[in-house]
Amino acid sequence: MAIFVAGASGATGRLLVSQLIDSGESVRIVLREGSDFPEHLINHPQLVVVRQNLLDLSVQQLAYILEGCSGVVSCLGHTPTFSGVFGQPRSLVLDAVKLLCQAIEVNSPGKPVKLILMNSTGCANPDIDEQPPLSQRVVVSLLRWLLPPHRDNEMAAAYLSEQVGSDSNTIEWVAVRPDALTDEVVVSDYSLFPSPVRNAIFDSGKTSRINVGHFMAELLTNDELWRQWCWQRPVIYNNEFTA
Ligand SMILES: NC(=O)c1ccc[n+]([C@@H]2O[C@H](COP(=O)([O-])OP(=O)(O)OC[C@H]3O[C@@H](n4cnc5c(N)ncnc54)[C@H](OP(=O)(O)O)[C@@H]3O)[C@@H](O)[C@H]2O)c1
Repeated sequence: MAIFVAGASGATGRLLVSQLIDSGESVRIVLREGSDFPEHLINHPQLVVVRQNLLDLSVQQLAYILEGCSGVVSCLGHTPTFSGVFGQPRSLVLDAVKLLCQAIEVNSPGKPVKLILMNSTGCANPDIDEQPPLSQRVVVSLLRWLLPPHRDNEMAAAYLSEQVGSDSNTIEWVAVRPDALTDEVVVSDYSLFPSPVRNAIFDSGKTSRINVGHFMAELLTNDELWRQWCWQRPVIYNNEFTA
């Protein structure tokens, strides 16, 4: 079986790809023209690279790429430039998640495919009636209207909860919510919670991207861990930020 990673060229995506390859998995990725990707990985025998913009693929084309994949991950995010934040595609993550789900459905896999969405602690989980602090809710409701990427992340997670739901025979999902992302070179101790334990705006903790990649790789390869978090939106912090 193989794992498909969308947003593989991103700061987190490439760490996930590397960790999956190191643990012996076959990985498939789609890179748009001009995407930067580590030289030592690009020709790796366990990696298949398709040069295309993900959102330009038809459902059938993506279904062909996903055929035989047991896991699909989105590490997509808007480029932090003016055009990346305010230009098209404004619903990059939502559109990608929809397309990935449609392609998985077309393949009618015999066993549910594990789908992981990289999300954020700024996106509350209405499924468990999460009530972030008032100050966070006020700022987030402003961000929702001022920053298209925030709205996009919320809508992508809502699509999984509301449209895919928790009784699909073809897709099981987890939305992983890191706090403020940092770059570290080695995996460190981290903790997982069903909901944030800090104010995501005024007292955010830190989550290293390599720890996010590690948790996602574990979810994909460890069925017991998957069952623990399936249909949920776990929050991940580096251990020093859980107090
Ligand atoms: N920053 C934080 O503190 C924080 C905290 C929690 C969660 N998050 C969320 O975590 C996610 C990933 O973060 P990251 O820092 O790892 O991301 P990143 O390094 O910015 O990577 C983004 C990925 O998305 C791709 N992408 C961007 N625009 C695209 C488009 N129009 N079409 C196709 N692909 C496109 C990029 O491809 P190219 O290489 O081709 O550009 C890249 O692979 C984001 O959704 C972000 O909102 C961020």
